[in-house]
Amino acid sequence: MLFDLGASIFSLFFLLAGAACESPKVRVVLTNDDGWAEANIRAQYTTLTEGGYEVVLSAPAQDQSGTGSLDLPPTPLLEPCEYNTCVIGSPATGYNASEPQLNYVNSFPVTSVKFGIQTLAPKFFSGSPPDIVVSGPNVGANTGISVLGSGTVGAACEAAKEDIPAIAFSGTAKTRHSYTELVAGDSSFIYSSLALSLIDILIATPKPFLPPNTILNVNFPNVTAQCASEGNFEFVLSRAFPTLIPGFDLNICNTNTLPTESSVVGNSDGCFASISVLDARTKLDAGKSAQTFVYSKLGPLLKCLS
Ligand SMILES: *[C@@H]1O[C@H](CO)[C@@H](O)[C@H](O)[C@H]1NC(C)=O
Ligand SMILES: *[C@@H]1O[C@H](CO)[C@@H](O)[C@H](O)[C@H]1NC(C)=O
Repeated sequence: MLFDLGASIFSLFFLLAGAACESPKVRVVLTNDDGWAEANIRAQYTTLTEGGYEVVLSAPAQDQSGTGSLDLPPTPLLEPCEYNTCVIGSPATGYNASEPQLNYVNSFPVTSVKFGIQTLAPKFFSGSPPDIVVSGPNVGANTGISVLGSGTVGAACEAAKEDIPAIAFSGTAKTRHSYTELVAGDSSFIYSSLALSLIDILIATPKPFLPPNTILNVNFPNVTAQCASEGNFEFVLSRAFPTLIPGFDLNICNTNTLPTESSVVGNSDGCFASISVLDARTKLDAGKSAQTFVYSKLGPLLKCLS
């Protein structure tokens, strides 16, 4: 009898604890520069949604690779959307009628992310801003000098300037394809799962997730026979540009000069993904204090190059 009572008090406790722990979903605006129908961004949409996030996709109607921080008002379509996903004459912004979270913007990546943050997020997230902006994964790496021209990085920087923490993801595998061609084991799914694992760790920490005016620039190496599944990959803190100034970076892995992104993703001793901390206003490497902040959040995920 006593035991029974104890057991039911116990289950009541867990019921209440469970209810109290049920937190609202983390809200994501998802964008890119390769276009709204590219396989990588749709894999990311699916992976985040299945991972428990509330996601609104707002991305260019066409491939806008290399358009940096260009921003112009969207215009009606003078040609079909990429992969024939909308017809000529479609409105300047539009969405998938059976899945209205999927939105195109017929302009640049920065214009698309602004539309996502300023117009779509209030509508889909009942007036709240997104908790985080995810840009990519880009088709092809964005390491070093290429961050300056990348629309994927440009969109993330715009979000950070609007006070939304943002991460740009890029994958070395250059398999440009439509979301309708996604297959199991696709590099798009490997990249989006890796992105999810990083985001999961970041959002489990208290806000703010990132220092103000700062983005993370994440690059994944190619998907090959050696780097074929999520478990093969490891993350390394990096910098975009080489530095000659000793002591600019935080001191980890027995050095105060972080490895460059290209040396991390190009390292053939493993499957290493680079994470750089960039200043959203200059797109150059952020300093030691921002790196230290990021290290305090992502430390458990980070490895040293041996
Ligand atoms: C729109 O959503 C439906 C249902 O998920 C899907 O079958 C279709 O391929 C999508 N089209 C585009 C262009 O997103
Ligand atoms: C990635 O790896 C595949 C398979 O090994 C190879 O065919 C492709 O050329 C590589 N791509 C890049 C950008 O290195």
